[in-house]
Amino acid sequence: MANDSLTITDNRTGKTYELPLKHGNIKAMDLRQIKADEKDFGVMSYDPAFLNTAACESRITFIDGDQGILRYRGYPIEQLAEKATYLESAYLLLYGSLPDKDQLATFTARIAKHTFIHENMKKFMEGFRYDAHPMSMLVSSIAAMSTFYPDARNVDDPEVRELMAIRLIAKMPTIAAYAYRHTNGLPFVYPDNDLSYTANFMNMLWKMAEPKFQANPVLARALDILFILHADHEQNCSTSTMRVVGSSQADPFLAMAGAAASLSGPLHGGANEEVLRMIDEIGTVDHIPDFIASVKQGERKLMGFGHRVYKNYDPRAKVIKETADSVFAVTGRNPKVDIAREIEKIALSDEYFVKRRLYPNVDFYSGIIYEAMGFRPEMFTVLFAIPRTAGWLSHWEEQCKDGDTKISRPRQVYLGPDQRDI
Ligand code: SDX
Repeated sequence: MANDSLTITDNRTGKTYELPLKHGNIKAMDLRQIKADEKDFGVMSYDPAFLNTAACESRITFIDGDQGILRYRGYPIEQLAEKATYLESAYLLLYGSLPDKDQLATFTARIAKHTFIHENMKKFMEGFRYDAHPMSMLVSSIAAMSTFYPDARNVDDPEVRELMAIRLIAKMPTIAAYAYRHTNGLPFVYPDNDLSYTANFMNMLWKMAEPKFQANPVLARALDILFILHADHEQNCSTSTMRVVGSSQADPFLAMAGAAASLSGPLHGGANEEVLRMIDEIGTVDHIPDFIASVKQGERKLMGFGHRVYKNYDPRAKVIKETADSVFAVTGRNPKVDIAREIEKIALSDEYFVKRRLYPNVDFYSGIIYEAMGFRPEMFTVLFAIPRTAGWLSHWEEQCKDGDTKISRPRQVYLGPDQRDI
């Protein structure tokens, strides 16, 4: 009997089965040989929400939820946030190593070449109501871009895949800024490719009548750090959506529209917007105990707290908390940070949260910084989607190259009626 295997006894038949272990896991398909009788379909694992199911093998991002560890291609997130830029991190996720000087220059130039969007996209975006939610505008616009790049359907061509990835990373800030300008009744601002990735985004957001936008370097760097922190997070809900839609060989624009749609939910990327609404509802520090009591009674969730994987402090939340002070030095202190810090203090000493291992996650403090920068809550998830583009595309590319990839099609446990006649 091999050591790296499991032996399973089926008590219905007395038969035993030896299932090999690979990287410490069994292949779910090896369960199907376990049958009650010849007609039996065989055993499956019932795992709604995939709590304990590995959907793929990946070499991109590693998370240790108990230790609060997050690494992109082996590099700790804290080091990347301190020493790298978002474009260097995006290159790392896409290609597997940090770029050297020439590689970074080429990558940056390729991104800069693709920051503009087709003029008809402006007409498309001008069709939205003034109060359209920016995430809905973003999801629709990502899908609409598919109509301008029909060659994106050639997903078997690695050069096409790379060009589409470059296009999406380059155009997401432009579309996001256009959505922001539209909701504020302001004219669209074209990209300025002399500027860095985040400074150009700020230019498209905030340039008014001045001949050339001057980005505050502290805010540009703070956005760059926030983008690094949000760039990838292994098989989260939206990345899994990217993989599932991509598994049917849909083009990457349509697959990413699905991923962004998934991110918009309040349990996922939409949480940063809900955190600010929650803090506004609480209003003052003295109202926190009553709010926490309502959470403990199950009446609501403490938004920005808890995580499927992290059962320790989300390492990204720590860096975001530290970044807040540099932003406030420019924008002025957002007093809501005091309420957030008091919520964290109370929650982390309360048995309800301690027992359930609920800690602040990436969404708990990010919105407070975004609000200090001048964004309204409905833009917060858009600010999450822009950097996550690199993660979504890295996983899509890894899947396209993975020989194990087949179209995703889970099974079910059918409990409905047997055949019956009309
Ligand atoms: C992101 O997956 C990723 O990597 C996502 C992400 C990424 O980078 O892509 O990290 C980004 O989505 C961060 C999460 C943002 N969402 C929120 O902040 C929303 C609030 N959080 C919860 O909805 C919840 O914590 C989830 C959705 C994040 C995780 O939910 P799980 O893993 O399904 O956990 P669960 O619902 O089974 O909770 C376990 C227990 C339950 O209590 P009991 O039924 O055992 O009594 O903890 C409770 C839950 O009720 N609980 C909370 C809570 N989160 C979990 N109670 C109060 N407030 C919360 N926030």
